[in-house]
Amino acid sequence: TAMKLADYQPPAYQISELYLEFELDDHRTRVTAISQVQRQTSQDAPLYLNGEALELGGVWVAGQPYQPEMAEGGIILQDLPASFELKIETIIDPANNSSLEGLYKSAGAFCTQCEAEGFRKITYFPDRPDVMTRYRVRIVADKQAYPYLLSNGNLLDQGDLDGGRHWALWEDPFAKPSYLFALVAGDFDLLSDSFTTRSGRDVTLQLYVDKGNAYRGQHALDSLKKAMAWDEQKYGLEYDLDVYMIVAVDFFNMGAMENKGLNLFNSKYVLADPASATDDDYFNIESVIAHEYFHNWTGNRVTCRDWFQLSLKEGLTVFRDQQFSADMGSPAIVRLKQVRVMREHQFAEDAGPMSHPIRPEEVMEMNNFYSVTVYDKGAEVIRMLHTLLGEAGFRQGMDLYFKRHDGQAVTCDDFVQAMQDANDVDLSAFRRWYSQSGTPQLTVGTTFEPQTGRFSLSLTQLTAATADQHEKHPLHMPVAVEILDGANNSVQKHTLSVTQEKQQFDFGPFDNEPVTAILAGFSAPVRVKQIQSDAQKQQIILHAQDPFLRWDAAQSLISQYLHEMAGSGQTSVPDVLIELFDSMLRRVDQDPALFAEMLELPSFETLAQQNSPIRVDGLLDARDCLKRKLARTLTDQWQATADRISTGAYQYTQQQAAQRRLRGVCLAYLALSNAPGVESHLHQLYLQSDNMTDTLAVLKACQGSELALFDRLMEDFEAKWRHDSLVMDKWFALHAGKERNDCLSKLQILMAHAMYSINNPNRVRSVVGTFAFYNPRGFHAIDGSGYKFLTDYLLQTDPINPQVASRLITPMLAFGQLDESRQDLIRHQFLRLLDSPQLSRDLYEKVRKSLR
Ligand code: ARG
Ligand code: ZN
Repeated sequence: TAMKLADYQPPAYQISELYLEFELDDHRTRVTAISQVQRQTSQDAPLYLNGEALELGGVWVAGQPYQPEMAEGGIILQDLPASFELKIETIIDPANNSSLEGLYKSAGAFCTQCEAEGFRKITYFPDRPDVMTRYRVRIVADKQAYPYLLSNGNLLDQGDLDGGRHWALWEDPFAKPSYLFALVAGDFDLLSDSFTTRSGRDVTLQLYVDKGNAYRGQHALDSLKKAMAWDEQKYGLEYDLDVYMIVAVDFFNMGAMENKGLNLFNSKYVLADPASATDDDYFNIESVIAHEYFHNWTGNRVTCRDWFQLSLKEGLTVFRDQQFSADMGSPAIVRLKQVRVMREHQFAEDAGPMSHPIRPEEVMEMNNFYSVTVYDKGAEVIRMLHTLLGEAGFRQGMDLYFKRHDGQAVTCDDFVQAMQDANDVDLSAFRRWYSQSGTPQLTVGTTFEPQTGRFSLSLTQLTAATADQHEKHPLHMPVAVEILDGANNSVQKHTLSVTQEKQQFDFGPFDNEPVTAILAGFSAPVRVKQIQSDAQKQQIILHAQDPFLRWDAAQSLISQYLHEMAGSGQTSVPDVLIELFDSMLRRVDQDPALFAEMLELPSFETLAQQNSPIRVDGLLDARDCLKRKLARTLTDQWQATADRISTGAYQYTQQQAAQRRLRGVCLAYLALSNAPGVESHLHQLYLQSDNMTDTLAVLKACQGSELALFDRLMEDFEAKWRHDSLVMDKWFALHAGKERNDCLSKLQILMAHAMYSINNPNRVRSVVGTFAFYNPRGFHAIDGSGYKFLTDYLLQTDPINPQVASRLITPMLAFGQLDESRQDLIRHQFLRLLDSPQLSRDLYEKVRKSLR
């Protein structure tokens, strides 16, 4: 049964106050919930309370015992006063809660994850975001095992009890939906700091990490302070409580959670030191810490009316964290990262059975819609508003949004309305981005009249039908272009506001035909179709001003030849590609960060999105062939470039990270070069490395080659890190991502490793996820063994943790673009899943849509 946006009804009852008491116990935690309930309708109405996996202890209405009616997914109360006190007792089993949703145990600590619909696993409650409540929470637990008892808001009081137990009482002064509730009880190392807001509020910052890990917490705390200062300066938004707590846990389904005043984090987005974390880890920590902090306004102070509106907070908050990351480091590199996410993952989602608009209209399992579409395409939609309205106009819209809606649960329409009213513009056509799924294709045509010098650009947009939606309409999008005049090497920049299916724009006069580079900064989440000569692309690579355009032109030149090679089975590499790399290598010093990205071949996942049906083997072969050829033809340049780099003692700075990345790219080519002494050179670098980024660069280079050194270094690495689960995830992923003939037996060995656990999402993702997402040769093996392996694993893990299973199935959802035989193989696995008697709603929704 699916929920529909069109069926939304406001809640019949609000709950103004909730007193929650937890007597924590591994298997029988007693939860007492006392609510102040107010009917919102003039007539008598039933009160529906969600509840799942609960043992009901008792219900009291206005002090009198009450027998509720048991219903699908909850209970129903009838014949109620207009306003009353409701008391409910439930008993739950956190130690056996492997779904990591609701109250569960992570490595000895009690913790919660309630978004989207996990609160109903704690008590019977109207578990929907438009019911906003002030919480008081009392926690009782054994003092020695759980010295820290935490919940949202401010600590009111605490004390000791008989039998070695103690208690704490918390109050959150801000009304909030149940999904923002959090509780933590455990023993941790605590790092403290403070931040003074610009209006003078002193905020205590607390970071709780596993014992012994305090020395890995400083970067997260520093990132938090940067985020707090940035939001004040950029948006005028301040923190609103006296304490901000972050707890890092090892068992976590997603990245992190913005619970009011008490964020919970996957430990991989908190812990970092140079020896164990890479530059990418440092980047991700800074960005996720900021993301959750920014939610305090975009998510908590103003929240969602219903879950169809998820992008209201996620798209906006991702956009804000991207702006922040750009301001903290290199805007161009942040942008390229994001474009890769869109092209590799979001375009694939939109092309498959799960295609949905950023505001979905029909949902069976909400957890399935924490998607790249809602998050990342959602952020692209906000970015387009920012481009269309300009920095100042966007800020005015944000100010009006907070002025109107602080303390409310609202919709995406409310957000766009605030943007529209603050800027006095018509955004009615723009709103279609919220209801229309699919990736628009923008076809570019140009004409040049030598007599008049007039240059015209015609843009045609077309969105193909998607699995969920047949009819498509034109969208309003900003198309940023650069017009390159070869005659005097000048560049004109324009941002075209495109609203119609076909539009023409005139420029000039020009003496000679100029070159157009389309979609500067990836100004809209579309595919561009444009026929350009190699020479035109080369001109963009050298002379465009926007780094994205330069990178994109290089990628497009490379991709085009890779597709040609894949189609013809040809193994000879065109000279133009060798020349391209040669010329880039000669220029790396101009911008090491950008050239490191430009020297990297387009990923298989990106290439796969460019042509249908996907020529799996052809593309992989062509890519390998080109890599080898570049490695062998330009060996001296790769070597010289790598040798020129010296970074000094590790520091996470943009300059150093760029240098390390560039060297990593060079080493990957060198490992394929056959140059004498390569193996011992790489070995030397491994031994010399004092940081995880350089160590991993060597391991990755070896992983992508046939060098026997790989296994030797991996053994050494394992011996060194075998007790560190976060570092071992890198080791697991290197093995699971390596091409080899005995791939599947290797996976079995990894899953039998002492550090592996099917219950820990990070471990599962590092082995099974890496294989399915990033080992295309193994996963797409033509005998179907990769698909069977994944399906076997889904059947095992689905009953344990459906959210994890449902993410892992993603690579099989792209089956529609594969060749017929692979399609059949995957369909067969889908049928096996459907045959399983207890398939979760999460997997059922995806499999059923795939077979439709
Ligand atoms: N709101 C969290 C974020 O910052 C994501 C939590 C989603 N969790 C889930 N189980 N669906 O993005
Ligand atoms: Zn978020």
